[in-house]
Amino acid sequence: MRVAAFTDLIGPDGVDVIDCETPDPGSDGAVVDVDACAINRHDLWILEGESAMVETDDLPFVTGLDVAGTVREVGEGVSRVEPGDRVVLCPNETCGQCRFCREGPENLCANFSLSHGGLAEAARVEADRLVALSDEVSTTVAASIPTAYTTAFHMLRRADVGPADLVFVPGATGGVGVATVQLATILGARTVGTSSSESKLEQVREFGLDHGIQSTDTDEIYEQVREIGAPDAVVNHLGGEYTELGQRVMARGGTMVVCGRTAGGTSTIDVADLFLEHKRIVGSTMGTQDELCRLVDLVAASDLEPAIDETYALAETADAFVAMSERESVGKLVVQP
Ligand SMILES: NC(=O)c1ccc[n+]([C@@H]2O[C@H](COP(=O)([O-])OP(=O)(O)OC[C@H]3O[C@@H](n4cnc5c(N)ncnc54)[C@H](OP(=O)(O)O)[C@@H]3O)[C@@H](O)[C@H]2O)c1
Ligand SMILES: [Zn+2]
Repeated sequence: MRVAAFTDLIGPDGVDVIDCETPDPGSDGAVVDVDACAINRHDLWILEGESAMVETDDLPFVTGLDVAGTVREVGEGVSRVEPGDRVVLCPNETCGQCRFCREGPENLCANFSLSHGGLAEAARVEADRLVALSDEVSTTVAASIPTAYTTAFHMLRRADVGPADLVFVPGATGGVGVATVQLATILGARTVGTSSSESKLEQVREFGLDHGIQSTDTDEIYEQVREIGAPDAVVNHLGGEYTELGQRVMARGGTMVVCGRTAGGTSTIDVADLFLEHKRIVGSTMGTQDELCRLVDLVAASDLEPAIDETYALAETADAFVAMSERESVGKLVVQP
């Protein structure tokens, strides 16, 4: 079978389509014929050599978390799914043994990791992590959900977002950004988001964004957000200076949930503001399989239509990473092996 592998950690030029053996399901696993696999900035970090998870010794490496397709083969111990089932993968890998696995939510697992290998014609996955798709949900749409939408949903729930809340989304145009805007809107909240590009903000307005601020100047953004209101919640996947901004701009008693570091891996906390204003800053990674199931149900009921910017053939996988690194896209980029 063919895979889009990282053969060098130098950015998009390091992606090559190569042949490798079709995987074996093993006793608890399944092999899925991959129709669609979305890419995430997580994959770009790896490709640029910015992730501790993959080093040169691990090459060639096949990334790809968000697998959707059809089950081809299952191991002898598997009864949950069978060949021919249409499925999407929850890429969480958890130990099932630690106290976080016992108490939940499962994404707190002390041994949490992610299942890679989706940028391929077939992928070996844990059968228990497969979620069934009804006919209403295409595999391309399903592939856009696991990482971006589940992460955004979990963050909104951690911030207890509800009707009439104001949610601030710095970087509202990417995978997690647009997902946050759409899901906050479904929860009845109002949204204010930023981008370097007015034309991208215009597209996100069609997905429900109430207020778009075209700026990368955090002082300017602060002023413009406060003209709208003091956010009850900040969904922060950018990190860096957007963390100081998020803390400063949010309402008394507000919550900022942080899941990423696109704009920088360190930030300064204003300690007095934190305790005097009763603010909360919370870290979050991925979401639960149950949250993924709920999102798939929302899509099946036509209550959520994930934002897909572009689809790519397997041979065009490098182009998908160029689009992400050049900040050209709005929403998700999906490879269709
Ligand atoms: N912890 C977790 O479980 C988890 C899960 C998913 C994602 N993440 C993290 O969340 C972040 C977003 O992931 P994603 O897949 O949604 O990425 P993405 O689609 O590439 O995000 C693009 C967004 O980031 C903005 N952006 C890009 N580079 C920027 C920069 N240097 N400074 C400021 N803004 C910048 C873009 O703004 P413009 O519109 O101006 O181009 C756009 O709004 C990543 O850091 C990722 O690792 C974490
Ligand atoms: Zn665990």
